[in-house]
Amino acid sequence: MGYRKINPLSKARSMASITRTEITAANRAAWNASAHLHAEGEPWEELLESAARPGFSVLDPVLTAILDGLGLKGKSAVQIGCNNARELISLASFGIRPEMGIDQSSGFLAQARQLADAAGLDVRLLEADIYDLPSDVGRFDLALITIGVLNWMPDLPEFFRVTSGMLAPGGRLVIYETHPFLEVFDPASPTPFEPAFSYFERSPQEVTEAIAYDGKDHGEGETGYWFIHPLGEIVTACAQAGLGIVELKEYGHTIREPEYDLYEGRVAQIPMSYSLVAQKLTSAKGC
Ligand SMILES: C[S@@+](CC[C@H](N)C(=O)[O-])C[C@H]1O[C@@H](n2cnc3c(N)ncnc32)[C@H](O)[C@@H]1O
Repeated sequence: MGYRKINPLSKARSMASITRTEITAANRAAWNASAHLHAEGEPWEELLESAARPGFSVLDPVLTAILDGLGLKGKSAVQIGCNNARELISLASFGIRPEMGIDQSSGFLAQARQLADAAGLDVRLLEADIYDLPSDVGRFDLALITIGVLNWMPDLPEFFRVTSGMLAPGGRLVIYETHPFLEVFDPASPTPFEPAFSYFERSPQEVTEAIAYDGKDHGEGETGYWFIHPLGEIVTACAQAGLGIVELKEYGHTIREPEYDLYEGRVAQIPMSYSLVAQKLTSAKGC
């Protein structure tokens, strides 16, 4: 899942005219305004019920295999941009301790609290902008970042500095995200296979529609800002934050909203998702 970009780049405000704090505040408002859409109806009721069952996990086979291979039983985890924490809570089924979820949306953290209670887990849910964390956040053995977080981040080097700072020496970072190359295409275009956006665009796109994962039109929401971060910049920002890259894998399967399904299962397949595993270097300074 991710978010359909509906406004051409030309409508986005230039980075020079909007501060990082203004961007994250706008994104917080956008997520909060859409929160109610994610806690109603059958899918939500089913999620609440299944969270209460032993062995609950929403993680797909790719992320499951990565976590299984890391030998993190008994270790502590933080999820950055945890949303309703369904993935964080799923870590318990791997024997990993889901200690903290960080998200700046109070609306989603209220849902996370309901899910954690249903699962009987004592998780610290921290409502905070990742760029403005309190000093007592702590250190963890695993930092998890999944589907649709990095594109909301206006400053990747600082994001990974903060992330690295939350890892204990030797701690792992696991990212499972939508592939940035997918950002080049617009599935709503009449010519969806023609590149519609530059992979190297620096200005954010305005997301004005309500944020939902079901592919349905839920009308207008609050304006948020969506960034294309090329894969090279993601890897470089990790490395420069004292994180040693262990593995980077690209996949042809989609983990986005249904609108993007048309790019999947093709003979000439483009990358649609990726996973990255990194390890906090014991020699990392200032992180
Ligand atoms: C796409 S959601 C994550 C969804 C999650 N991977 C899942 O599948 O349930 C992205 C989350 O990042 C959070 N977020 C965006 N910018 C943030 C920031 N600056 N600090 C903390 N959280 C942020 C949003 O509130 C949102 O809940």
